[in-house]
Amino acid sequence: MLVEFLEYLWHYPRIPKEFREIVQEQIAIKSRYARQRAAWTNHLSNCKSFILENVDPQKDSRIVLLGAGLLNDVPIRELSEKFFEVILLDAFFLDSTLAQIKKYPNVKFISKDISKIENLTDLDFDHLVSLNILSQLLLKEESIAIKQQIINKHWGLLVGNTVRSKVILITDYLKQIFDRNNQKKLEESSLADYDIPQADRYWDWDLAPLGELDSNYSMMLKVLAKVL
Ligand SMILES: C[S@@+](CC[C@H](N)C(=O)[O-])C[C@H]1O[C@@H](n2cnc3c(N)ncnc32)[C@H](O)[C@@H]1O
Repeated sequence: MLVEFLEYLWHYPRIPKEFREIVQEQIAIKSRYARQRAAWTNHLSNCKSFILENVDPQKDSRIVLLGAGLLNDVPIRELSEKFFEVILLDAFFLDSTLAQIKKYPNVKFISKDISKIENLTDLDFDHLVSLNILSQLLLKEESIAIKQQIINKHWGLLVGNTVRSKVILITDYLKQIFDRNNQKKLEESSLADYDIPQADRYWDWDLAPLGELDSNYSMMLKVLAKVL
């Protein structure tokens, strides 16, 4: 916790006020990943391979990744080699992420509130990836109706671009809580019961094994990946 607090303090002067909670969560994810690297491997490698298997870059292709965050699920080296330009979009990039980005001259980053983006017409790209961000956009909302509006808007952002680009959606869609005996205790939609059409691939993300969030319960996310 102290390390997380110090990292937050270090970045504090350049964190826009509206992104403070998001950055705290990003720092928490960074620590969780450090503790749960083995449990997350399957999810992260599935994300990376799904992206790489489903892109088709030409020599001047540009790819935009929404929710790039800490780059844990981004095959950054391969994308940098395959694409003319890689554009990472997230609310905030920690210094440790910026240090990684700097290694690749054709990778640039944009800090923006993705929930407020109406369209992507100011960016030049032909591939678009929504990467483990959709459920995150709903976290602060209580109302199912508003959550569904946010999903509709994000869906429109993705689908509205299909005429000129290849679009990939990767998101968790179901949250499950298990007890110590591996009995399922709770199951709830991560997407406010939004009906996403049949995906191309499904897998589990062992987000919080026993002891990570609670000593008696673990949390698993069901993830889908789809080319739109
Ligand atoms: C679960 S992480 C996604 C995984 C990420 N690709 C990684 O490897 O860390 C969710 C990401 O969504 C970003 N995020 C959450 N709400 C956002 C918003 N309104 N606008 C932009 N980014 C947001 C967070 O900063 C975080 O990086």
